[in-house]
Amino acid sequence: MCGIVAVTGYRQALPILVKGLEKLEYRGYDSAGVAVIDSNNNLICHRSEGKLKKLKNKLNKKTINGSLGIGHTRWATHGKPVLKNAHPHFDSTKQVAVVQNGIIENYLELKTKLELDGIVFNSETDTEVIPHLIQKELHNLGTLNLENSGSTLLIAVRNVISDLEGAYAIAVIWSGSPDSLIVARKQAPLIIGLGEGEFVCASDTPAITNITNTILPMEDEEMALLTPLGIEIYNSENERQYRNPISLKLSEQIIDKKQFKHYMLKEIYDQPQIAKNWIKQFLGNDLSSFTSINYSFDIGFLENIEQIQILACGTSRHAALIGSYLLEQYAGIPTTVFYASEFRYSPPPLSPNILTIGVTQSGETADTLAALNMEIKRRQSSGKESYKPNLIAITNRLDSSISRLIPNVIDISAGIEIGVAATKTFFGQLLSFYGLAITFAQLRKSKTSEEINNMISNLIKIPSLLEDLIISHNEIAEELAHNFSNIKDVIFLGRGINYPIALEGALKLKEISYIHAAGYPAGEMKHGPIALLEKKVPVISIATPGNVFEKVISNAQEAKARDSYLVGIAPECEGTEIFDYLIPLPLTDEWMYPLLTVVPMQLLSYHIAAHRGLDVDQPRNLAKSVTVE
Ligand code: AGP
Repeated sequence: MCGIVAVTGYRQALPILVKGLEKLEYRGYDSAGVAVIDSNNNLICHRSEGKLKKLKNKLNKKTINGSLGIGHTRWATHGKPVLKNAHPHFDSTKQVAVVQNGIIENYLELKTKLELDGIVFNSETDTEVIPHLIQKELHNLGTLNLENSGSTLLIAVRNVISDLEGAYAIAVIWSGSPDSLIVARKQAPLIIGLGEGEFVCASDTPAITNITNTILPMEDEEMALLTPLGIEIYNSENERQYRNPISLKLSEQIIDKKQFKHYMLKEIYDQPQIAKNWIKQFLGNDLSSFTSINYSFDIGFLENIEQIQILACGTSRHAALIGSYLLEQYAGIPTTVFYASEFRYSPPPLSPNILTIGVTQSGETADTLAALNMEIKRRQSSGKESYKPNLIAITNRLDSSISRLIPNVIDISAGIEIGVAATKTFFGQLLSFYGLAITFAQLRKSKTSEEINNMISNLIKIPSLLEDLIISHNEIAEELAHNFSNIKDVIFLGRGINYPIALEGALKLKEISYIHAAGYPAGEMKHGPIALLEKKVPVISIATPGNVFEKVISNAQEAKARDSYLVGIAPECEGTEIFDYLIPLPLTDEWMYPLLTVVPMQLLSYHIAAHRGLDVDQPRNLAKSVTVE
């Protein structure tokens, strides 16, 4: 969580930092701050509580002459989202400034020791121990050798890092070395951008692309010294690292809201194009001669797989639940989905020939990465060949930690998602699971080639179905949002392949509208949740033709009998007249429906939140990638 941006070069740092922070605000928006070393070698800092615009107002008309600086946008972990806890944080002499992402787990122990030495803390954060410790190290190292001040700072930071526990990324500046920037990471992302005569470092690529498209992703536990003259990268053994820079893909460079009021709406509208791209990339150009799904890795290792386990959080977990439905019901392979945060501490006993799939759009979710790391380690240390880790990652970020952890990556290529509530990346994850289900159906011969061709031809129709659906459902959702302006609770029902869509619909509504919502398998409602139903609690029910259609309609009847206002997401067909309001779906194959039913869920949440005047793209308390446990 939190966004870091830092720069050293020849231009004024302040505008570069502010521009970078604008691009990183999706990572957290509890407070923001910058620190710059000015031309008189003074450390100048400005911080503000709340969103970046408050900091920008504060900075208005201010100039700081200086080309070395760090900036931060915060998602609070330790200490309330108030000014004193905003980053950067300083040592007592205000010579060292630090911004940090992640958590320093042993900060209390370190803080107590520093307090015994007489250090007075100004914040409740875990971060503040770092500048105090660095200052102490600088003092011990003797700071008078200013010719090598950058190296001195590097050594000081390295010594401090060796005492830090947790997962974090930091950027450090010191007035004693007015062009040196030190950055370091441990299980939290940092990318270095190589500009002309200047270097930037940030938590994510959007903060860098206005300066350069050439980047060096830092590996885990690396630190670097950046000056306008060059970069030195070191691993945890203090060995100098050399690697070639890479160029960012175009999709990683363009972040454009187009004509849309919010990124979320634009990202919902992006989905047909994502489907078109997926078809091209995974099914191939010549669909008449389709043989197998195209992967960027050799799928030979999947032949012996007997079971699948999927680890994910939040919306990614909902995509995994649909994936598991497809893998079991379509491809016939037993599949279990775990909350990554639970799996880490209570994994099932080891079983042989299992494929572990990690799903994370950001590729940086700490719970998912920790669960995967744990699983890889316990399988490797088992010593048994059949227990060896077989791994696939599904992510939207090829430059992320999961892509470095797992060799076999399915890139959903949805383009960077800025809206904090995931929409198009969920859709991209779903498509990846359709691909995997086809692959396993082929490997296990659980479907005939005719059945597989049928699935392919239905998938090919998705982009055009979606284009029409989004336009019509957008109008409907806007209208319905007016009717729902005062609701406080909503129940979402789905069954079979659409049950996870009910969960996702409820999550989206909670996240951006702050309305309490719960999703249930429709058949479960009578076992308890039905007690909640009354006139003021609308029920949104997904009823698509297939093996549970009549059952869902009966469950909807039960809700109607309790006076609930019934919204149906269903085709106009016999049975659906029961709904007070119908959001119509086209008729298609049952397997395809999650790719369509998710759209009205997304649009409804969007319009309800927008109608209430809420900050749709940056909902309260959330951040785009949750890099803390
Ligand atoms: C999505 O709308 C949420 N903000 C959240 O549940 C998210 O899906 C979850 O934190 C997992 O993120 P990831 O896909 O980046 O791992």
